[in-house]
Amino acid sequence: MNINHTRERGYNSLPIPFGWFGVAMSDEIAAGAIRTMNYFGTEFVMWRGEDGVLNAVDPFCPHLGAHLGVESTVNGNDLRCAFHHWSFSGQGAVTNIPYTDTIAPRLKRQCLPTWPVKEQDGVAFVWYHPNKAEPKWDVAAMPTCPEDGEWVLHSTYEWIINIHVQEITENGQDHAHFNAVHGVTGPAEGDFKIDGWVRSNKVVAEMVTPRGPMTGIIDVTATGPGQSITEFKDVTHVVHNQQQTPIDAEHTHLRWQMYHAPGLSEGRIRVTDARIRDLVKQVNQDIPIWNAKIFQTEPLLVKGDGPILAYRRQYQKFYEFEG
Ligand code: FES
Ligand SMILES: [Fe+2]
Repeated sequence: MNINHTRERGYNSLPIPFGWFGVAMSDEIAAGAIRTMNYFGTEFVMWRGEDGVLNAVDPFCPHLGAHLGVESTVNGNDLRCAFHHWSFSGQGAVTNIPYTDTIAPRLKRQCLPTWPVKEQDGVAFVWYHPNKAEPKWDVAAMPTCPEDGEWVLHSTYEWIINIHVQEITENGQDHAHFNAVHGVTGPAEGDFKIDGWVRSNKVVAEMVTPRGPMTGIIDVTATGPGQSITEFKDVTHVVHNQQQTPIDAEHTHLRWQMYHAPGLSEGRIRVTDARIRDLVKQVNQDIPIWNAKIFQTEPLLVKGDGPILAYRRQYQKFYEFEG
């Protein structure tokens, strides 16, 4: 039986958005390594040259069509196809053909389509656009560490979830589920803002901590459809660096890197551990619901549901593929 899951789940109106998306942790691709990547309902090939530069290209060799992720090798900074040993630079130009001494000028220009790549805060990003349009914004960086030193990486997590990427970040605007699913008070409206490609929200709330009541701040900045960076400032200071990347229209790869401020006392480390455990528990509470839900194109919303429609309005911009 051939079931059209996409239609059944209400995803007909949800293509794969364009944007910068995390596709690996930087340290997963060492110098000399080649990886075939399966994201955005397609494939591409990445390699890191001996110069440390990470590159991404379309998967098939423009010569006679070999898959550049299969049996190929990194030769200096270039990728060498296994079939006839043509070498390609990260700009998609032919740099060497071992059995000819005349390489036509058009081969020395780009003849293999490339993908823009950026590495930021230990994550490798590619720019996806179905029409190969140039990047429209830059990859967002973690906030600067306010105390002496650098953020300390506490832990990393990843999940593959059966859901369209748009649905993952809608969860943050869905205020009513916080109490129902996570047993916590939903965030106050906060300072919800849409500014072009960026959505932000700053919530200041009184919270109960082991040290008594205090003012906590949750400060989220989502840049494009692929990145959300959240600072939790209360009895501890945690940075939650999140990337959500479409594998296809129905599957999303979610990655988290959790950081804390340097120089924490043992007591504050314990609070930080508990804080991070709690955030991981929350996503594990969401996942069974995400895996099975459909996208309601016309949801029945009431007061108290949160800025879901404002979120969806901005998200439409990531589907404007022309221009
Ligand atoms: S197919 Fe790649 S070098 Fe011939
Ligand atoms: Fe949630």
